[in-house]
Amino acid sequence: MTRRKLAAGNWKMNGVGASLSEVQDLAARHPNPLCDLLICPPATLLSRMAAVAGPIAMGGQDCHAAVSGAHTGDISAAMLCDGGASYVIVGHSERRTDHGETDAVIRAKAQAAQAAGLVAVICLGETEAQRRSGQALVVVGAQLAGSVPDGATSANTVIAYEPVWAIGTGLVPSEAEITEVHAHLRAELSARFGAIAADGMRLLYGGSVKPGNAATIFALSGVDGVLAGGASLKADDFSAIIAALEASA
Ligand code: PGA
Repeated sequence: MTRRKLAAGNWKMNGVGASLSEVQDLAARHPNPLCDLLICPPATLLSRMAAVAGPIAMGGQDCHAAVSGAHTGDISAAMLCDGGASYVIVGHSERRTDHGETDAVIRAKAQAAQAAGLVAVICLGETEAQRRSGQALVVVGAQLAGSVPDGATSANTVIAYEPVWAIGTGLVPSEAEITEVHAHLRAELSARFGAIAADGMRLLYGGSVKPGNAATIFALSGVDGVLAGGASLKADDFSAIIAALEASA
């Protein structure tokens, strides 16, 4: 099956109103993209981004598992929808580390996102120590089992493999390592959801993807796109990554 590729950008805690010129520039350069485009800005920018996003979908970077309530500082999936989002990242390693989010918490968030009509981009990945001790496949398999809700479908779920040690470091796993993890995740999804259902679910790679290494990564079997952090902040960089993904499609 041919999965439509996805180029997703995670702005993290970066960006104010002036940064939207980068989105406007990007949208102008890719009026008819051959892959899906997504930017997850800070929630404060969502509704303003809608005016300039063109073909670029918008996403949140996290959501609470509850629909509403006494959760100061949090944001619900319904609020993200209200701001114009159609996706939300959950389980990013910075959330797992900074906020102690467990697989169970992430699963509940993904479920809330899906219930609200958002596509959940569920992130997972091993630490450097886990990779060194040969535990990478076991770790990502457990995160997949724990973080992905039973109701996951190809329409409401995207999985992003992001080795913690590759995020923001300039380090990237070897081609063999990326291929091995993606094949393992695909096999685990097939075992749980059935081959046909799992076949449509997109598996992104994230962690230090740049214009210079994007084409090599996108040529790897089982890589359906990218979740880029730093390289998504500038239209020049993200546009080059999108072009590489389109060329691989
Ligand atoms: P990076 O971040 O591209 O800056 O390494 C990736 C991510 O955290 O999604």
